[in-house]
Amino acid sequence: MNLLVTGGLGFIGSNFIRLWLSRHPDCRLVNLDNLTYAANPDSLKDVQSNPNYRFVKGDICDDKIVQQLMPSTDFVVHFAAESHVDRSINDPYLFVKTNVLGTYILLKSASKNQIKRFHHVSTDEVFGSIGTESKNQFSESTPYDPSSPYSASKAASDHFVRSFGKTFGLPITITNCSNNYGPYQHPEKFIPRMITNLIDGHKIPVYGQGLNLRDWLYVEDHCLAIETVLLKGKVGETYCVGGLKGGTRNIDLVKQVLSIFGLDDSWIEYVADRPAHDNYSVDWSKIKTELGWEPKFTLESGLKATVDWYRSNETWWRLAKKEAEEFYTKLKALSV
Ligand code: NAD
Ligand code: DAU
Repeated sequence: MNLLVTGGLGFIGSNFIRLWLSRHPDCRLVNLDNLTYAANPDSLKDVQSNPNYRFVKGDICDDKIVQQLMPSTDFVVHFAAESHVDRSINDPYLFVKTNVLGTYILLKSASKNQIKRFHHVSTDEVFGSIGTESKNQFSESTPYDPSSPYSASKAASDHFVRSFGKTFGLPITITNCSNNYGPYQHPEKFIPRMITNLIDGHKIPVYGQGLNLRDWLYVEDHCLAIETVLLKGKVGETYCVGGLKGGTRNIDLVKQVLSIFGLDDSWIEYVADRPAHDNYSVDWSKIKTELGWEPKFTLESGLKATVDWYRSNETWWRLAKKEAEEFYTKLKALSV
């Protein structure tokens, strides 16, 4: 089987490629990534010499490159996207281009080449907000109601993916997953930002009162969910994917991270809230019942593993941390 993975030098894509190559040694895999600020080639240093792995530097919006790669592809696993909500609020353009146009270009070529499966990696953010009660959960039948330019662009891409399934018979599947965390995540995102701040002796910036809910899933569990859908999922279907705890308030997550470091609440700094700040929690009973997937990592075990990884891999994150904090400083200056 030949896989075309897009965005494989980002957080989830790189974890997926490592996992897939180790579990499917007979498959060939091409990684198409145009190396945005979010990519880090070091994330896949250990697989570079694998003869079944090939990296192609290129943009999913580039019709020509996509058309060169698609004829030898059986499965597309589409991760490539602009993924950060705060950046989408600051400048939505690239989100429209990459997440909507890029997805369309891949779909068009996948359809023309009659590939066996187009798997679209999407987010729970397309559903909007559950309110502040974690007993409310998103499911496959929740209507779309995106709040940020990021989630609107992902919602649009989901609709295009489904439309290619219905109109052109492209064999598609979609996963809508909650917040991932784990090794190789860019330090602009909350969990690695907290950890790297604490390593550097800085406080944790908490948006608003820290009452927003997120449904955390360790990245390896997400990658296993995608593998499960690729191997056992039903064509045309969507599967919601989430963590063991449902919604966790940001402030409770912060306290868990602080306790791993043996620090108290004086390391918390409350800062201005994000506009249109949602709450998320996901009901993943469909993928469990129909395909047998469930998370293996608890939030406790996953957080501990993540803190250990960032403590041991400073060279991986140091440069990205500088860039991320420059972005946040610029954002703060714009908002005052
Ligand atoms: P990321 O920002 O860490 O990585 C994105 C990767 O895509 C980078 O390597 C980047 O260089 C590449 N890329 C961006 N634009 C591209 C383009 N035009 N052409 C080729 N490559 C391009 O993202 P992530 O957190 O790994 O998320 C991956 C996917 O999973 C995204 O589609 C995201 O919407 C989805 N998702 C993420 C989460 C999460 O918590 N991180 C949860 C659910 C779904
Ligand atoms: O739900 C899935 C989504 O999760 C993915 O689709 C996105 O690609 C991914 O980035 C993530 O989006 P979030 O906006 O939830 O992630 P982020 O890490 O930016 O923020 C997580 C929560 O933490 C959110 O409630 C905002 C808050 N936060 C974030 C940062 C960076 C803070 O309180 N302080 C911070 O410094």
